[in-house]
Amino acid sequence: MIINNLLVSYTDEGQHGSPVIIFIHGFPFNKSMWKLQQEELKDNYRVITYDIRGHGNSDAGTGDFSIELFVKDLLNLMDALKIDKAILCGLSMGGYIALNAMEKYNERFDALILSDTQCIADTPEAKEKRIKAIEDIRKTGVEKYAEESIKNLFASESFTTRLKEIEDVREMIVKTSKQSLIRTLLALSVRKETCSKLTEIKMPVLILVGKEDKITPPAAAQFMFEKIKGSFLNIIEHAGHLSNLENPGEFNIQIKKFIASVY
Ligand code: MLT
Repeated sequence: MIINNLLVSYTDEGQHGSPVIIFIHGFPFNKSMWKLQQEELKDNYRVITYDIRGHGNSDAGTGDFSIELFVKDLLNLMDALKIDKAILCGLSMGGYIALNAMEKYNERFDALILSDTQCIADTPEAKEKRIKAIEDIRKTGVEKYAEESIKNLFASESFTTRLKEIEDVREMIVKTSKQSLIRTLLALSVRKETCSKLTEIKMPVLILVGKEDKITPPAAAQFMFEKIKGSFLNIIEHAGHLSNLENPGEFNIQIKKFIASVY
């Protein structure tokens, strides 16, 4: 669908009129990472997944990327699909987008699921790593970048038990264009913190994190849990940064229980 001159690729499944759950993928993946969650929920809810601009099958548009722009895109999608209110579920960068959306548009959301994410801005070291990643992508290409990224994304046991998921993730990464990788890395490096806003969140919040998440570790989840009054925290076993793919059974149990408690 074309929304504000941008081609946005999305899926819309389940019953219209049912509570809506919107899934926001991480970087540099796409909406296909939510397939198992979509399957699990679509009988009882309206489930939306979409590709953030520059990812999957969505166009990149012109100009710089920013988390604020991604939030605008999300709200434009909700308006275009006539979704007044929804539960947001964001993984990593998807969580950054969800937390930013909450600051400005909290009346549009009923609840929040924050998976393998954090509220801090990039530290100087993290910024340096992004710049290095941009140089590497320019010099050695996307395939090599995918190879390096995968090493940090998964729990060690997933390298023997989740080969299909690893292959799927590699495909998602290499499907992303060089330009979009670079533009998103820049956007991530200048994103603002949302930690100081967490105490203002008054809706139900579930925080999930893979026990072996090296990118946004359990301590980052614990920090948000302590700040968001009444939130729930669950540490997912047998999972690294991609807990919904590495332990979908447990991930789905947790989100289903939480969503059922909201409505
Ligand atoms: C993600 O999975 O979205 C990224 O790891 C987020 C980040 O690099 O900060």
